[in-house]
Amino acid sequence: MSTDDGFHFAADPLADPLFSTPEAPAAVCRGVRKTYRTATESVTALDDVTVAIPRAQVTVVVGPSGSGKSSLLRLLACIDSPDDGEVLIAGQRVDRLGARARRKLRQRQVAYLFQRPGENLLPYLDAVAQIRLAAALRGAPATEDDALELLGRLGLRERADHHPAQLSGGEQQRLAVACGVVGNPALVVADEPTAELDTAAAERVLVAMEDLAAAGVGFVISSHDPRVMAIADGFVRLDHGRLVAA
Ligand SMILES: Nc1ncnc2c1ncn2[C@@H]1O[C@H](COP(=O)(O)OP(=O)(O)OP(=O)(O)O)[C@@H](O)[C@H]1O
Ligand SMILES: [Mg+2]
Repeated sequence: MSTDDGFHFAADPLADPLFSTPEAPAAVCRGVRKTYRTATESVTALDDVTVAIPRAQVTVVVGPSGSGKSSLLRLLACIDSPDDGEVLIAGQRVDRLGARARRKLRQRQVAYLFQRPGENLLPYLDAVAQIRLAAALRGAPATEDDALELLGRLGLRERADHHPAQLSGGEQQRLAVACGVVGNPALVVADEPTAELDTAAAERVLVAMEDLAAAGVGFVISSHDPRVMAIADGFVRLDHGRLVAA
């Protein structure tokens, strides 16, 4: 098979078992550096950071404002690329893939949750349709019954035909978590997912994440929120873009 950009594959890389190595961590960053350059200055946001995000666990990224948490999460989610170092998702080095294979790996193995619940959802789809679309985009189609079952696990069974505008912020964020985990990606990345939720709503989102992580997905969450820290299996501590020993 050959692609528009001239790459040749013996087969669809998704059919290659190495594309998702079951025993590999959900994600790894090895010696990553990230510098943002503006017209007048350059800011080193990450400086030689090496971390592994295990599957079936919740890893919480902590550190003061400006320490590089969101920058690290964007690298792990393959939204951004490091200036130096490597990112591996499910055992695959992202930088060694062509543009098409990288896009497929990201679609198949990574979900990213924004802080604002509404930004994770499409306004014109009901809850079941959101989940089924997310599954289809991940290449792992879900039936209506699959979607209803997942909604039930997240306490949203009665909201199956509701659109985002008919859901509370906490319900929207739980629906976004459902869309994140459907089809079993290796990694779900969430940047301050409880920042806009009250205590009760945040707790329900976190309980959902904890339960779903147990099923095998690796969650990596940045937060200042003690409620998030309470569900952590492990921590990544950053300060001025550097890893800090626990
Ligand atoms: N696009 C950008 N252009 C220039 N500098 C940036 C950019 N994004 C982040 N930075 C800088 O990089 C550093 C790390 O930012 P980052 O957003 O990763 O921190 P953070 O730990 O997520 O902070 P917060 O807790 O406030 O969300 C900061 O000094 C920030 O000002
Ligand atoms: Mg941030």
